[in-house]
Amino acid sequence: MLIQTLCSLLAVNSAWAQSSTLAAYIASQSPLAKAGIVIASPSNVNPDYLYTWTRDSAVVFQTIIDQYTLGLDTTTRGEIDNYVASQVIIQQVSNPSGTITTGGLGEPKFNIDETAFTGAWGRPQRDGPALRSNALITWANYLLKENNATYVTNTLWPIIQNDLNYVSQNWNQSTFDLWEEVDSSSFFTTAIQHRSLRQGVTLANAIGKTSVVSSWTTQAENVLCFLQSFWNTAGYITANTGGGRSGKDANTVLASIHTFDAAAGCDALTFQPCSDVALSNLLTYVNSFRSVYSLNSGIANNQAVATGRYPEDSYQGGNPWYLTTLAVAEQLYDSLIVWKAQGSLQVTSRSLPFFQLFDSSVTAGTYASTTSTFTTLTTGVQNYADGFVEVVAKHTPSDGQLSEQYSKTDGSQLSAVDLTWSYAATLTAFDARAGVVPASWGAAGLTTTCNAPSGGGGGGGGGSGTVAVTFNVFATTVFGQNIYICGSVDALQNWDPNTALLLSSAGYPTWSITVNLPASTSIQYKYLNIEGSTIIWESDPNMEITTPASGTWIENDTWR
Ligand code: NOJ
Ligand code: NOJ
Repeated sequence: MLIQTLCSLLAVNSAWAQSSTLAAYIASQSPLAKAGIVIASPSNVNPDYLYTWTRDSAVVFQTIIDQYTLGLDTTTRGEIDNYVASQVIIQQVSNPSGTITTGGLGEPKFNIDETAFTGAWGRPQRDGPALRSNALITWANYLLKENNATYVTNTLWPIIQNDLNYVSQNWNQSTFDLWEEVDSSSFFTTAIQHRSLRQGVTLANAIGKTSVVSSWTTQAENVLCFLQSFWNTAGYITANTGGGRSGKDANTVLASIHTFDAAAGCDALTFQPCSDVALSNLLTYVNSFRSVYSLNSGIANNQAVATGRYPEDSYQGGNPWYLTTLAVAEQLYDSLIVWKAQGSLQVTSRSLPFFQLFDSSVTAGTYASTTSTFTTLTTGVQNYADGFVEVVAKHTPSDGQLSEQYSKTDGSQLSAVDLTWSYAATLTAFDARAGVVPASWGAAGLTTTCNAPSGGGGGGGGGSGTVAVTFNVFATTVFGQNIYICGSVDALQNWDPNTALLLSSAGYPTWSITVNLPASTSIQYKYLNIEGSTIIWESDPNMEITTPASGTWIENDTWR
């Protein structure tokens, strides 16, 4: 049923357009969608979603490809082929973000006739190429098993390589987040980029394209390191380094489900769904909506509620979204899959508040599947997860149509009708509930030397005060050039080169600046050499410091 809805939405110019006068009107007013193009929603006014987003399209096709390759629905091969063909074209379309070689792959959306969208928009959005390559690599891995290496090498690999070279070269540049609003570094984008580079390396090795392996591996390690810096010792993942909000955001829950790898168990380094960090984060995220939607009033703390993008959201009224409410259920179903497979479940000091929802007397420890505590907790999690699906079901009209949002006061449908991503989110949540395990991507057994939230409760940083940090960098420049700094926290302008901080040249060739930075925090930064509009970044990897708990700190660097 759902997959048929998805497929009829793909073909908006044929079956869908004939099915209603509104759609016929849309088709007459707008360019026709090319084959394989995913339309975000047929809504063409308030909001106008009659475009194809790289993100939405990849999420939809990751779902369709997972369904196909896991043998759940093999009717869609033609659609997958069309998607591949459409992305070959879309990648080459020069657009306001650039050409294929100058950043055009970061363009968030295109017209449905595969031409560039040239209006103002939050660009670039660097999750798109990573999500697309993840979907295509899943497809490639399946085809290799089918002995179709020629198609993988000749058709899929060139698309994947374009995307992953882009990810490898640009992951540490600022990006608009998946909600197209905040220009900084974003957990979802970083987590997806990490997965994409790891999968890319494995595929490259499998088909003998080894020239990319060393640089992609190095960058994957850097990305994994940077990913750790989003953890906030207040018990959640801060979604964006910029934005000036609480940072509690479905961004992080979506990242966890879209990087689920059952082989990695409850690994905290990759924020697996059942990791203590991801469960603590889920609880914080869910609870942030209890008081902001009247739809949620009077619901007990251990019961599911409607959730949206982030509690401060005001877009289209700032309501709950189907896809975010379903994502909570999916993270919990993914967790149950792992706990059942490993025959035990661990409660840590970080995940204790989450597990106390289901057993107020539970304490930290490891509970084997033979214990009554395991049964109590997993039954509780299952019921809690089902509750989120029930919230969605309760606010789904009888015809099954799913828009983007449902009202925070009465649950009625709002914003874009027939949002393709809403249907994909339903399918993946149902699959996870049924115990379907998506293919592994290589999250198991990774390590990092960075300050990580994993490994026995330490690390992570995020003390309350600030410390004065002096950055001295030895850098020779020519007249007209100046040295700037930016980095991963607000005080370092969240990686935005346009607002980077100018250092003093009073001690030239040593340039200097003193900045108040959060205490006990792992912070990444780079120096920039800027002359007019020419910005030269230091080479990779990012520089990193962990600030002291108090006092001051002097950091002496040399330009690289
Ligand atoms: C349109 C984007 O699609 C949406 O995510 C955003 O919230 C609004 N613009 C407001 O900036
Ligand atoms: C707005 C959402 O915030 C964004 O994530 C999505 O890509 C577009 N709408 C299109 O669905």
